[in-house]
Order: sequence, then C-alpha cells, then structure tokens
Amino acid sequence: MAVREPIDLIVRGGTVVNADWQGEADVLVRDGRVLALAEPGSYRSPDVRGATEIDAGGHLVLPGGVDPHCHVGFTSGDFTSLDDYRQATTAAVFGGTTTIVDFAIPRPGENPADVAAAQRAKADQGLCDSALHACVVDWDATVPEQLRALTADGVVTVKMFTTYRGETMADEKTILNVMTSLRDLGGMVVIHCEADHIITDVQERGAAAGAIGARHHAGTRPELAEAASVAEILAVAESVAAPVYFVHQSTPEAVDLVARARGRGVRAYTEAVAHHLVLDDSAYAGPHPERFVCCPPLRSATTVGALRSRVSMGQVATIGSDHCCYDTAQKESVRHDVRAMPNGLPGVETRMPVIFSELVVKRGLPVGRFVEALCANPARLNGLYPRKGVIAPGADADLVLWDPTATTELRATDLHMATDYTPYEGMQITGRPTTVLVAGRPVVSEGRLLDPAPRGRHLRSRPLGSGLIC
Ligand code: URP
Ligand code: ZN
Ligand code: ZN
Repeated sequence: MAVREPIDLIVRGGTVVNADWQGEADVLVRDGRVLALAEPGSYRSPDVRGATEIDAGGHLVLPGGVDPHCHVGFTSGDFTSLDDYRQATTAAVFGGTTTIVDFAIPRPGENPADVAAAQRAKADQGLCDSALHACVVDWDATVPEQLRALTADGVVTVKMFTTYRGETMADEKTILNVMTSLRDLGGMVVIHCEADHIITDVQERGAAAGAIGARHHAGTRPELAEAASVAEILAVAESVAAPVYFVHQSTPEAVDLVARARGRGVRAYTEAVAHHLVLDDSAYAGPHPERFVCCPPLRSATTVGALRSRVSMGQVATIGSDHCCYDTAQKESVRHDVRAMPNGLPGVETRMPVIFSELVVKRGLPVGRFVEALCANPARLNGLYPRKGVIAPGADADLVLWDPTATTELRATDLHMATDYTPYEGMQITGRPTTVLVAGRPVVSEGRLLDPAPRGRHLRSRPLGSGLIC
C-alpha cells in the first residue's frame, strides 16, 4: 500500500518484532506516531524526501519497553529512593524502556487522590511518558469517590499491600472493598502479597537468635508467606469477581495459584520482576548482602529456575523491574536489621538487557514472547495498549533498535540510574538497545543522550475491560 502522506522519519532494514508477529519491515513515522509498516525498501525518494532515515540493518526493531513497576523518589520508612522523573526516565530510555508506570503511595495521613495528583504533575520532567498506580491503605467514606475520580482521570490501577504493617499494609476488608469498587469502575487492584503475620513472627524469632541482619533476609520472608497471601487474595477476587494483578511474584507456587485461578475464569495476572528471574539468594552470603535486600527476597537457585520455567510456559503476563533507587550508603546504614532496611533494587535501566540476555539469548525464550512480557502485556494491563507496547499504525513511535549480538559487561559506572551500584555488577550480557526513539525522536544512540529535552507526558490509562485476559 502506498502511503502518500508526508513522512517525518523512516526506520529501514530492521526486523520488526511485535508480540504476535515479526518480520522484515520499514517503519514510517509521522507526527510522533507510527504511520505504517512498509515492505523493506519500498519507500525511496521522492516518497520520503525530507524524512530522517535511520538504518536498522542487523537490528531488531522493538516497541519501546513498558515497565509496569517502577518506584520514582519513593519514601518508605526513613528512606527515600534517590531519583526524580528526569533521572528515572533517562535511565529507562538508555535501557530501551520508553514508558514507566510509577506509584503514588500515601504516607500515613495522606489521601490517595492528592498523592496521585502530586506525582502525576511530575510526568513532564521525564524524557519519556509515564502512567501511575494509585495506592489505598485505609478505607473510609471518602475512598469510593476518590477511586471514581482517579479512574475517571486515567489512574485505573491501585496498589495494595498485605505486608508492611503500620506503613502501607491494608486489611482484608479494605482490599475487598477496593477490589469491588474498581471492578465496577474498569480498574484493578495490583497487589504485593506476603502474609505479614508470618513474616513478623519469623523476624521476631530471628531477632531473638541474633539472625536479623541482611545476610538473613531470605529466611525472614519465607516462600510460604507469599503463597499464603496470594491464596487469600485470589479467594477475595474470585468471590467478588474482580480482576487482580500480583506484583513481583517470586515463587512457582504463587504463580501456579494464579494460573489455576485463571483456569477457573478469574481475571488474575502474574508479574515477575527481573531480579527474581536472574539473581538468587546466594547473593546474601556475599560481601554486600544489603545491596540485594528487596521484598519478596531473592529466592534459591531452584526456585529461580522454576520461576523462569513459568515464563517459558506463558504463565507470567509481565516482567517489570520493581525499580527502587537506593544507594549503597542507604543500604549499609541499617544492614544489621532487615526490618529497618530500605527495600528494593535499582533496575529500570537493566530490565530489558538483562532479561533479553538471560532468557532470550541463553535460554531460548522466543523474542516475541520477550516483547509480549516486557512491552505489550504491561501496556495492555495498564490501559495503554495499543498506544504503547506495539509497532502498528497509530501507536506512539517509541522504537528501540536492538542489537541482539552486542556484548556488554554491566558496570554501575556505565549506567544512568541515580545510585552507585547495580546488583548485576560484572555480569556479561548479550543484546542491548543501540538507538531509542521516543515519539519519533531519537533520544539515545550508541550510549549517548541525543535529546535531553523533558517531553514526558502523563498517560491516562483507559478503563480495563473484560477483554483484559492475556
Ligand atoms: O522491595 C521492594 N519491592 N521495594 C519496593 C516496594 C515494593 O514493595 O514494591
Ligand atoms: Zn511490592
Ligand atoms: Zn515495588
């Protein structure tokens, strides 16, 4: 089909990879959006006169990554993670991610809608677009109206926690109420599941035995605490016929519970995060166990292998980063007591390269499945598809030229996250983004920032319909 409209940019000679299709195609871009995919070489001067041409020969052309789980400047306990929107999105773009979904998590006494409004106002500091999960901790008479206003305003997902008592933990009735409200508003609870009473008890026993430092972290948050909480929350979702998305599932048991529920018709989804698929609990025996403290913790190598197999089997809908940018000083300051530690690992920049290398290159995950889990499904499950997560006419021209054979040794000093370490220090990886376009503008190329202008937009998520299942 001949495209007669003017073209701003053409990405030539690459292999376009969508979740459900891949093949040789040129990508035509106009006004920041994909205009068409074209037969390779079918558009030449004068058709493309004045258009910028980018040679993608030897590269995959991927939709920009969508990171469904990214904490920017997140305050928890006594600690605030160290990045702002500009820093987090700069790192994201260097790693091939062009959309992040951040969290607006209220501190005690704050209300969810106000916190979401404040966080949303920061989106224009970003180098790429962002969307938001709200968060509800306590139920009161104002919450239904806040949820209505949030969903009407494009914030359709609400994070809830079954742990961190006194901080962000919600009780069972609050979770049920929020699920029910969101069900009717086209929204969805996204939930962190670890049974707090089990963890608190194990931690108290650990503290009494002098085993509560960072090296004991994995043992203080056992796998069964995650499975117990997931089972409870699935029962609630099934009872009220509400969709539910489980963030950072770290065990095969937890994933299997969700898969079985989906088999019964429950709209339940698993998110895995990169560090649970790549790193294991041997990190806690190393010289810097505190650098690996996250919740849920890194699991045994056996569990990690079983979790990876769930990705291969198609039981993991999305792979996020759970990016949380603390530095080594913050981590070290309370390494003697995991109960006081800032939880979370930096990862928005490494998510795509590390998963590509470990799952696609080393373990044969089809690249279309990689795109599905890191681009398309995160967009679908956050009401952003098909604007994001796919290369198709009308989608934003967020495009990643990906060299599938380039090798890199990961070093914190080469990365752009606002911290002084990466949990992947020294890891050899294969595959990386070489050029990244945001809304048709080349922002990063060959490791250089070409366009530092903050043109990020807050994305209003669309209501999630019953066609959500993927
Ligand atoms: O350890 C983690 N995951 N920190 C970030 C906050 C959360 O629970 O997602
Ligand atoms: Zn969490
Ligand atoms: Zn998180």
